[in-house]
Amino acid sequence: MGLNERGHILKQAIKWVLDAGDMIRTKMDEPIQIDTKSNPNDLVTSVDKETESFLVKKIQAHYPEHALLGEEGHGAHITSLDGTIWIIDPIDGTMNFVHQKRHFAISVGVFHDGVGEIGIVYDVMADILYYASRGEGAFKNNHQLEPLNDQVQLEKSIIGLNHLWLCENKLVDEKVMQKLVKIVRGVRSSGSAALDMAYVAEGALDAYLAMGLSPWDIAGGTVLVNEVGGRTTNHLGEPLHMLKRNSLLTSRDSIHSDLIQQFLEKGQK
Ligand code: 2AM
Ligand code: CA
Repeated sequence: MGLNERGHILKQAIKWVLDAGDMIRTKMDEPIQIDTKSNPNDLVTSVDKETESFLVKKIQAHYPEHALLGEEGHGAHITSLDGTIWIIDPIDGTMNFVHQKRHFAISVGVFHDGVGEIGIVYDVMADILYYASRGEGAFKNNHQLEPLNDQVQLEKSIIGLNHLWLCENKLVDEKVMQKLVKIVRGVRSSGSAALDMAYVAEGALDAYLAMGLSPWDIAGGTVLVNEVGGRTTNHLGEPLHMLKRNSLLTSRDSIHSDLIQQFLEKGQK
């Protein structure tokens, strides 16, 4: 994808995301319909669906040739990353949206032939916009983020953890997680993978680890982290696949291999 096309898409995508954020804020105090998906704690609301529809309509009207994969059902049939694909999560952190009315994000990633070109993560209630385009740097509210060059060690790191490691088919032994929690300086659990990835990009977290995430949770954040020189792989250091469910280990470079080592040491496959 060329520089001009990327810049044009980024500008439009930011406008649509900000407009969608406006819509969500106006609905905050209205009654919403809450349903469950894969389990009783996997929530979806009428606002998730309406926001995805809003973004899908805009994208399809302007880019009918692009593919689209969304959390609330769009693009479930897609089997290839060839060409341009938008990967969108209308509300990442739906449980936060329902219970806390804050700390959730709209996440958009645009990939071309499997390469992350554009990433947007918008903290709707805080009105903080993170965005990046490949080769052009990552930004927080128009302020460019610094490259993640500091050689922070594991013992001085603060890491975000998604609790779903407890549930995801015991991918990792609980003892490995207990050891990791003791090694690092601090652990946080925020409830929005997209926002935690933005925090890694901005250096507010040194790493974020989750055992089962979908492409829409990570597509936008992946581009953000890549643009500041951070790492995004699964917990064993293998590449992520944007059409599959993945574990996710994203971090500054200085602790990435030490983190992977925790999982490899005990043969955590
Ligand atoms: P969601 O809010 O869009 O569902 C919660 O710690 C993070 O994990 C959120 O980013 C959430 O995305 C994501 N997640 C992925 N799969 C989930 C599931 N089955 N149940 C709850 N959260 C899930
Ligand atoms: Ca999500």
